[in-house]
Amino acid sequence: MKLCLIIAWFAILGCIQAVTLEVKEGNSTCIKAELSASFSITYNTSNSTRTAQVSLPDSAAVDTTTSSCGTDGSSSWLVAVFGPGHSLGLSFSRNESVYSVANLTLQYNLSDSSVFPEANSSDVVTVVSSSVGIWATINTTYRCISPSTFGVSGETVTFSNMRLEAYMPGNDLSSSESTCMADKVSTTAPPTTASTATTVTPAPTPPGTPKQGTYFVKNQNDTACLLAHMGLQLNVSYFSRSQNKTVQELMNLNPDQTNATGSCETSSATLSLKQEEIITLNFTFTLV
Ligand SMILES: *[C@@H]1O[C@H](CO)[C@@H](O)[C@H](O)[C@H]1NC(C)=O
Ligand SMILES: *[C@@H]1O[C@H](CO)[C@@H](O)[C@H](O)[C@H]1NC(C)=O
Ligand SMILES: *[C@@H]1O[C@H](CO)[C@@H](O)[C@H](O)[C@H]1NC(C)=O
Ligand SMILES: *[C@@H]1O[C@H](CO)[C@@H](O)[C@H](O)[C@H]1NC(C)=O
Ligand SMILES: *[C@@H]1O[C@H](CO)[C@@H](O)[C@H](O)[C@H]1NC(C)=O
Ligand SMILES: *[C@@H]1O[C@H](CO)[C@@H](O)[C@H](O)[C@H]1NC(C)=O
Ligand SMILES: *[C@@H]1O[C@H](CO)[C@@H](O)[C@H](O)[C@H]1NC(C)=O
Ligand SMILES: *[C@@H]1O[C@H](CO)[C@@H](O)[C@H](O)[C@H]1NC(C)=O
Ligand SMILES: *[C@@H]1O[C@H](CO)[C@@H](O)[C@H](O)[C@H]1NC(C)=O
Ligand SMILES: *[C@@H]1O[C@H](CO)[C@@H](O)[C@H](O)[C@H]1NC(C)=O
Ligand SMILES: *[C@@H]1O[C@H](CO)[C@@H](O)[C@H](O)[C@H]1NC(C)=O
Ligand SMILES: *[C@@H]1O[C@H](CO)[C@@H](O)[C@H](O)[C@H]1NC(C)=O
Repeated sequence: MKLCLIIAWFAILGCIQAVTLEVKEGNSTCIKAELSASFSITYNTSNSTRTAQVSLPDSAAVDTTTSSCGTDGSSSWLVAVFGPGHSLGLSFSRNESVYSVANLTLQYNLSDSSVFPEANSSDVVTVVSSSVGIWATINTTYRCISPSTFGVSGETVTFSNMRLEAYMPGNDLSSSESTCMADKVSTTAPPTTASTATTVTPAPTPPGTPKQGTYFVKNQNDTACLLAHMGLQLNVSYFSRSQNKTVQELMNLNPDQTNATGSCETSSATLSLKQEEIITLNFTFTLV
């Protein structure tokens, strides 16, 4: 059987909303963030575990009771709340020359069945990471357009299109920026696949638009080194012996049944997606 894979890419790194959040005291702004965030949360159902993909909606709002400029000696907090009892918190600390994110806190409410269908718990879960490595020079804006993923005790938080400043000297983001490492080296070549891939416009036939999945490749130290947010549809043509002709078939990759593996080297990374024993797709990314 001759297989010719034609891969259509849907909305890579797309469809995530940007949110603006501000913490104020009186008339002055002390923390401002413009960002897109998405969360990957694993939870238990009665007979298995599931992973929910949640994006920070643009209805997310700063929680004025828990957010603080830290002027009373407490730490400085930006807490954004969304939905029934979900929140994302960033606490900041500083010295004379730099400020940094001290803690990243994610709280989610498993009672929210629209996000966590069939969860067998109704707990409100809080997870904290205190090693996120987001820092910038005082009086500059931290900028990271590239997606950066942080593990927060088993869950992952991905930020992209991020501009953020704490301990602000004025009411708007400073014009000078501290750029994150990923933006300095974001010269990733277009993906190449083992087979000759051609991009086609998706055929308007079943099985419909493929579901988007979020696929990670992690280093030994559990930090994500590759992130792909995409829906995949395969247009497979093969010679059918029973029909004595070449037939074409569209197949969607189902993220719920797909395992991502791979590895990251200094100048290349591979992502291998496997859906059961039927489909294996290898992607090789190289730095040029
Ligand atoms: C905030 O600004 C308004 C008008 O611009 C002013 O009347 C008020 O006193 C200010 N409040 C503080 C705490 O500075
Ligand atoms: C899921 O259940 C396992 C035990 O089966 C437990 O160890 C784990 O903490 C649970 N996970 C969550 C997110 O509740
Ligand atoms: C939820 O399901 C997991 C297994 O998936 C089980 O270990 C755990 O005890 C269950 N928790 C509750 C509260 O039923
Ligand atoms: C798990 O439970 C759900 C709902 O109770 C059921 O629909 C599903 O078939 C079960 N799956 C397995 C593998 O038992
Ligand atoms: C969690 O969600 C449930 C159902 O939506 C809601 O009744 C409850 O108040 C929420 N908990 C918190 C702490 O907001
Ligand atoms: C401020 O903190 C950074 C990072 O922890 C450190 O590299 C720097 O030396 C510190 N500066 C001062 C003046 O303490
Ligand atoms: C960060 O979290 C740790 C552990 O949860 C806590 O001890 C610490 O006080 C927190 N730091 C800040 C600045 O909130
Ligand atoms: C930051 O800006 C403020 C106001 O412009 C200034 O007072 C302060 O000295 C600056 N700090 C640093 C570390 O440049
Ligand atoms: C994780 O390992 C990679 C290389 O494998 C390294 O670049 C990165 O700094 C490490 N991260 C942490 C938090 O140790
Ligand atoms: C398959 O089709 C070709 C041409 O369409 C024909 O020549 C050939 O005999 C067919 N083979 C079988 C086994 O039907
Ligand atoms: C994913 O990998 C796990 C562990 O290797 C395996 O148990 C599971 O069946 C795999 N799932 C799929 C859809 O291949
Ligand atoms: C795809 O990648 C997997 C794991 O990295 C490897 O075992 C497999 O041989 C690769 N397949 C092809 C066709 O390159």
